[in-house]
Amino acid sequence: MAYKLLFVCLGNICRSPTAENVMNHLVEKAGLSNSIHCDSAGTSSYHIGSSPDSRMTAAANAILGIKLCGQARQFQASDFENFDLILAMDRENYRNILSMDSDGKYHEKVRLICDYCRTHSLKEVPDPYYGGKEGFNQVVNLLIDACGVLLEDIRKTQVNL
Ligand code: 4NP
Repeated sequence: MAYKLLFVCLGNICRSPTAENVMNHLVEKAGLSNSIHCDSAGTSSYHIGSSPDSRMTAAANAILGIKLCGQARQFQASDFENFDLILAMDRENYRNILSMDSDGKYHEKVRLICDYCRTHSLKEVPDPYYGGKEGFNQVVNLLIDACGVLLEDIRKTQVNL
């Protein structure tokens, strides 16, 4: 059984699809595509069915040379069962996810992605939507840091990988 990761932001068109595609890039380089599966979702319904934001796509391509694939979907309660680890981009996403787990059964599965950052000190991935190009670049750089450490962590702790 593959280890399943779900990255979550608000709209699922900027931060979480970037996290999903950065992680897939690292997983492929490590030859672990059969062992680690990634997906992403948004806490809101605003952009259901949309492709990743073109400004986000441009930043990911410029910095890492990757394409952002995917179509936005909304986080749903069944995701708690279907994923091993759920990674929120900011504290608001984190709170909104946990509000759907009223008895706290899945609390341990939900983390802030920036808890994995090693070279960056920010505790959240800032929402880049209403800002400029630098904000989108910052998202990519934060997520390269966090996803690299996350992959190391999974390889250390998941004995069957
Ligand atoms: P994301 O960015 O949560 O990183 O996908 C946003 C996308 C859309 C909106 C806000 C943030 N919006 O307000 O429509």
